[in-house]
Amino acid sequence: MRQGLLVLVLVLVLAAGSQVQDWYPRESHTLNWNKFSGFWYILAVATDAQGFLPARDKRKLGASVIKVNKVGQLRVLLAFSRLKGCQSQEVILRKDGKKPVFRNTLKGVKAFQVLSTDYSYGLVYLRLGRAAQNYKNLLLFHRQNVSSFQSLKEFMDTCDILGLSKAAVILPKDASCAHTILP
Ligand SMILES: *[C@@H]1O[C@H](CO)[C@@H](O)[C@H](O)[C@H]1NC(C)=O
Repeated sequence: MRQGLLVLVLVLVLAAGSQVQDWYPRESHTLNWNKFSGFWYILAVATDAQGFLPARDKRKLGASVIKVNKVGQLRVLLAFSRLKGCQSQEVILRKDGKKPVFRNTLKGVKAFQVLSTDYSYGLVYLRLGRAAQNYKNLLLFHRQNVSSFQSLKEFMDTCDILGLSKAAVILPKDASCAHTILP
């Protein structure tokens, strides 16, 4: 009986693994975007996009400013220390008709989705790429420049689910790039 249950759980986990591209926790559906908007530090990132992060000694905190343009439309500003230094980029995203994701496929943003938040931190799943390209990114947003133990644990657990745990990086506490987009 026990073993049967274990097998069932394993099958469910494996099935979930193959569906990770379409994974919409309840929190994604019930998000209050006005509460989620504003300035965020990005304290940790996990990505399978090669070359997204610069060498270890060039890494810095990222940042994002989220604005609700109108219903179903977000303005997302992101700043990251990249190979060529601090770079910021702004993109307008539109809500999917049914799914709790925002996107702008012309700009290479396939999905912007909040997996979990209490509005002091947020786990943001960002799928990037054009056409058949598909890069997964998990970002840990925090209102402050330090993370809570709980949010960091949730970030690592989610990295595991997304198959990104080997690519998880806690960013060094240098806010010089992040503060370039302070509102
Ligand atoms: C983090 O933020 C606090 C104020 O909120 C500031 O005093 C501190 O210097 C910041 N730390 C870093 C490493 O930027």
